[in-house]
Order: sequence, then C-alpha cells, then structure tokens
Amino acid sequence: MKHDLSQCVVWLTGASSGIGAALAKKLSATGCTLILSSRRLDALEAMAAECQQRPTLMPLDVTDKATTAQVVQAIASQFGRLDIAIFNAGDCLYLDIDHFDVGIFEKMIQTNFLSTVYGVAATLPLLKKAQQPHLVLMSSSAAYLPLPRAEAYGASKAAVQYFGNTLRVHLAPSGIPVSVIFPGFVKTPLTDKNNFPMPFLITPEQAAQAIIKGIQHYTPEIRFPWRLILLLKTLSKLPIRWQVALLKKTVKSS
Ligand SMILES: NC(=O)c1ccc[n+]([C@@H]2O[C@H](COP(=O)([O-])OP(=O)(O)OC[C@H]3O[C@@H](n4cnc5c(N)ncnc54)[C@H](OP(=O)(O)O)[C@@H]3O)[C@@H](O)[C@H]2O)c1
Repeated sequence: MKHDLSQCVVWLTGASSGIGAALAKKLSATGCTLILSSRRLDALEAMAAECQQRPTLMPLDVTDKATTAQVVQAIASQFGRLDIAIFNAGDCLYLDIDHFDVGIFEKMIQTNFLSTVYGVAATLPLLKKAQQPHLVLMSSSAAYLPLPRAEAYGASKAAVQYFGNTLRVHLAPSGIPVSVIFPGFVKTPLTDKNNFPMPFLITPEQAAQAIIKGIQHYTPEIRFPWRLILLLKTLSKLPIRWQVALLKKTVKSS
C-alpha cells in the first residue's frame, strides 16, 4: 500500500535548514497540510517562502518537553488531527578525547534522542486516532559503526535506532508504522563543519527524495546512499579486531 501524502497532516521538525528544509519543500509539493518547526523563526519564514503551499510555522526548541507538548496541542486545536510526525531536528558534535567533555554527551542525547522521545510522547495520542498514521525518526548511518570522535553523536543516533525499532514492534498492534532514517553524508551546514573526507556525499534534495519515497512506501529503514550503506554494513560485519585495525587509522594523533 502507498501512503497518499496529499491527504495527510504532517509535522516536520528541523525544517529551517539542510535535509529538513529540502524535505519541507518536497512535502509541500505533495499537497499535504504541513506544519514546520525549528528554533529560528526567520530561517523558517525564508524557507516557507520557497514552498509551493504556505506551511504553518510553529517555532520550537525540541529539547523543551513542555513546549513540545504545547506545539502538539496547538496542532490538535488548529487541524484536529496529525497523520505523520517526522522528528528530523538534530545536531552533531564530536569528542576531543584529550579534553573529554561530558557536556557534549548531554547535548547530543538531549537534542537528538530525548527530543525524539518528547515528540513521540506528545504525538502518540493523536497518531492513534489518525486514519493514515506514520512515525518517522531521524537516526544516522553513524549508528552502524564505532566511528572515532562520534562517541556522543553516534550513541544518540544508536539510541534513536533502538527506540524506533522497538516502537515499530510495540506499535504494530495499534497500526502505527515506524520508519527510521539512516542517511550517509549529506551536504548541509551540519556536515560543512567536517574536516575529513565524506565519501558518496549527496545533496539535501537527493536525501529528501529518498526520504519521501521511503515514507510513501512505509519503508521501515530508509537508508541512503546505497553505496555508502553497503560499505558501512559490510565493515560492521567484520570481526571487532579487524574493525579496530581499520578504523583506528582515521584517528588523528595530536
Ligand atoms: N547531514 C548529514 O550528513 C546527516 C547524516 C546523518 C543524519 N543526519 C541527521 O539529519 C538531521 C538533519 O541534519 P542536517 O544535516 O539537515 O543539519 P542542519 O542543516 O544543521 O539542520 C538541523 C536542523 O535541526 C534544527 N535544530 C537543531 N537543534 C534544534 C533544537 N534544539 N530545537 C529545534 N530544532 C533544532 C535546526 O534548526 P534551528 O537552528 O532553527 O533550530 C535545523 O533546522 C539531524 O538529525 C542529523 O543528525 C544528517
């Protein structure tokens, strides 16, 4: 069965930039009723001006549990329902092993994982009543391998992966499909900071196209680009000692 997005009320977080902005534009072209969130209203406004149909903007810091619940309340009052929730907002900070900053872990878990939990908790009552419900969570292909410096980011995305996989089983009797997204490298402000090679880098528009296709087909794991995914999955099957031998070469000596 194909998910007919044109009839859906869709909420997307992290819509002011990168993958979220590209996804918002493509979603808007499907004719769905679109609600967009992120912290920066000016950036959301600029992005909304490029959408085919005017989306509703609801600014939000996704690490704020109470405000997340209020935004979902506002969606319920204004639209009466919610069919698809896409929790895309996120950030990436890397660990400097010589200056071990616990705050980086707190920030990554708050922004990438707990925010997703807050969103799911707030939206589940509405999704349970929806005709075509769908929960979509943003993980990362970083969750597949122990990548040096990504201890905090990767852990937060592995938490999203486990959360999504478990919810998929738990919500199956309620008829709520769960998709988890595993992008490779996508050229966005988040990756523009990276000072290492990013094989098979794709554009946000290519990422958004793959995500829309995955949502339309209720794909449980939306993974792209396939060549990077194949490489990472293959490496993840190697014995741990081999993985360490290969991956330690990417650690820069200080
Ligand atoms: N780019 C990649 O290669 C890649 C790969 C794998 C996974 N991902 C994941 O894809 C998602 C989008 O990443 P991106 O590359 O598109 O990054 P990006 O261009 O930096 O966009 C991040 C988005 O998240 C929002 N955001 C960040 N913190 C927030 C907060 N506390 N509250 C509300 N919104 C917040 C930002 O908006 P405001 O600043 O306006 O709040 C922005 O709209 C992230 O979850 C990221 O981990 C990206």
